Amino acid sequence: MSLVRLEGVTKHVMLPDDTRLDILRGIDLEIAAGDHVAVVGRSGSGKSTLLNLMGMLDAPSDGTVAFRGEPVRRMRKARLDRLRGRNVGFVFQQFNLLAGRTALENVMMPLGYARGREFWTRRTAATRMLERVGLGHRIESTPEQLSGGEQQRVAIARALVRRPTLILADEPTGALDVETGASVMALLDEIASEADAALVTITHDLNVAARARRHYRLDAGVLSAFALDVSANADAADASGLAANVEASADPAAATDADPNPALDRVEVSS
Ligand SMILES: Nc1ncnc2c1ncn2[C@@H]1O[C@H](COP(=O)(O)OP(=O)(O)OP(=O)(O)O)[C@@H](O)[C@H]1O
Ligand SMILES: [Mg+2]
Repeated sequence: MSLVRLEGVTKHVMLPDDTRLDILRGIDLEIAAGDHVAVVGRSGSGKSTLLNLMGMLDAPSDGTVAFRGEPVRRMRKARLDRLRGRNVGFVFQQFNLLAGRTALENVMMPLGYARGREFWTRRTAATRMLERVGLGHRIESTPEQLSGGEQQRVAIARALVRRPTLILADEPTGALDVETGASVMALLDEIASEADAALVTITHDLNVAARARRHYRLDAGVLSAFALDVSANADAADASGLAANVEASADPAAATDADPNPALDRVEVSS
């Protein structure tokens, strides 16, 4: 059975000048347990908005979002909050860590709503998860004292600590170097497969997208599936993306022909 299903989902907002901005248009998407889906798309194409809808943090303007077959709009708020807390692990694009609270307190937070053993062992569980993201030595540091990449890893530990059935990761490696990014992605995969959870990753990095089983592109609010030729595109991303950036910074003349978005432009849309 599907874990989360979007049918004919649209999202629009009214701007201050009274014009209507259509952010998402006619989205159909089904995510099952154990799925790993990647979504790519240019800035402003609606990726974070889509993730918020999947995670039941936001409601669509039209269409249906259903969790385990049950339409979210029919749920009462208390039940929806419980369902989301128990099942959804968010890695927010802006991390959304609590300022002035330690890494440990931030990661323990989702378990504060748990019951029984899960509640009483929350300190140990949070410490272990921080160790798994390589921050066992910084559990008493606050976000202000951590680097961007360290804050991102705290955000990932917080998303995973309650073993969610749906992990929604918005640019989870955006602040990380290639190596740390790869180990964090391996951790997301590992935790997801341990719990047969679904993992939805938004990314600009084709090497990260290549880890997913299904690939989608958002273009001005329209979602379409595409086939990612993993070897060709990952190589292309390395060769013309990373290498071009390195060259561009070393040699200003090379920057003029560097494609600002080399990897994504090379992705072929098959449907
Ligand atoms: N509440 C809102 N009010 C007005 N505009 C909004 C609102 N939420 C989103 N938007 C607009 O909708 C568009 C899509 O936003 P969204 O954050 O989903 O993009 P994104 O694909 O995640 O971009 P990025 O890659 O830069 O994170 C943007 O133009 C954004 O300004
Ligand atoms: Mg975004």
